[in-house]
Amino acid sequence: MAESEKISLAFCCLGNICRSPMAEAVAKHTIAELGYADRFGEFDSMGTAAYHVGESPDHRSAQVCRIHGVPIDHSARQVSKQDFSRFDYIFAMDANNLADLKRIQPRSSKAKVVLFGEYGYDSSFPKIVQDPYYGGVNGFERNYEQIVHFTKASYNPFYKISVPGSRKST
Ligand code: 4NP
Repeated sequence: MAESEKISLAFCCLGNICRSPMAEAVAKHTIAELGYADRFGEFDSMGTAAYHVGESPDHRSAQVCRIHGVPIDHSARQVSKQDFSRFDYIFAMDANNLADLKRIQPRSSKAKVVLFGEYGYDSSFPKIVQDPYYGGVNGFERNYEQIVHFTKASYNPFYKISVPGSRKST
């Protein structure tokens, strides 16, 4: 596939050390496993806040990814206006992340900013990927299960990528 046709994805949470680096890692790994890596360009993640810029993923995210055999490697960064022209999709983990992204998105930039959980088709997975930072590792495991579900829902060959509520698909 031509480079220009490839889809670039980014995932966004608050601190960019727990949920979104996990989502980036799971998406990259799952897409490769499904055999669709050649359709995708960049994978990345970022936070709406700058508290943890430069830090590695939280050890509990790293632990859950390791248990599931998903490689994770990221340096936390804060979202910038350029991200909205660099990525085709920016997936928000919760409603605050979504609102913050929409507030700073430059007009007419290309990124589609979507709540990642909108892709779920099984209602036993809540749409919001909750902030796990102040809880135990169980919260990270729950985040992981949701993220795997939303990833498969959005990228498997039957669902493709489409923006919920829109008929346009890529
Ligand atoms: P994340 O989790 O947004 O999933 O990376 C958090 C990380 C740090 C903080 C909050 C949430 N914090 O308040 O420092």
